[in-house]
Amino acid sequence: MTAVDDAPIAVDEVPTLTVTLRIRRMNPEGNADHAPGEDYWEEFQVEAHATDRLLDALHKVKWEQDGTLAFRRSCAHGVCGSDAMRINARNRLACKTLLKDLNPAKPILVEPIAGLPVEKDLIVDMEPFFASYRQIMPFLMTSGPTPERERLQTPAQRERFEDTTKCIMCAACTTACPVFWTDGQYFGPQAIIGAHRFIFDSRDEGQWDRLEILNDTAGVWKCRTTFNCTEACPRGIEVTKAISEVKRALNTGKI
Ligand code: SF4
Ligand code: FES
Repeated sequence: MTAVDDAPIAVDEVPTLTVTLRIRRMNPEGNADHAPGEDYWEEFQVEAHATDRLLDALHKVKWEQDGTLAFRRSCAHGVCGSDAMRINARNRLACKTLLKDLNPAKPILVEPIAGLPVEKDLIVDMEPFFASYRQIMPFLMTSGPTPERERLQTPAQRERFEDTTKCIMCAACTTACPVFWTDGQYFGPQAIIGAHRFIFDSRDEGQWDRLEILNDTAGVWKCRTTFNCTEACPRGIEVTKAISEVKRALNTGKI
């Protein structure tokens, strides 16, 4: 490769394209064209670079065309978990999804994640999701006096739950689960992931309390192993595998 090939491309030389965002909207107060609570599709065209993220395109819509468009975002770097949405019929983070990966020649469909009540446009009420998480008691449970130094564990002990510590609570897994959509009771994959993170932590003493909760009719046995959760997870967590490990612990009585 020559030095010329390695030269950086100036920003204004990166080709732009016009993308169409087809966004599912709902305004609880209604507007001139739509009744309160009515949901409808609206299209916006934006000039963007193929390497832009969907979040950049949504910002362009909000900042340049329609300030009423509502969506959550914070870190813009795949860390806070606040901008999970359904993009071309798949749950993803808008800040980690490049336009070039979405076939920008066609309208890009953007909808709120499914199975949670929509508050406005792409914003859903996350409370049912967090309520399930609270039920599994997501905190270290120990007995005895507080130690004078940190509780030690070996690398192998840490490895048992390393994968599930990566969860950013975006709800992409839970809202991709057909059992969660239809059951109305099921805790959903994320709550099981949250429990797994403590059940397999050698420092924790509340594992059997959590397993008892997950043994409930709303718990782990509702999982039908469809793998939607694993495919949806933007952190690459092996969600279905972790759920299977919780099931095995319940079946064998061994952690
Ligand atoms: S397991 Fe993955 S998809 Fe589910 S909430 Fe955590 S980060 Fe999001
Ligand atoms: S905005 Fe924080 S994860 Fe996307």
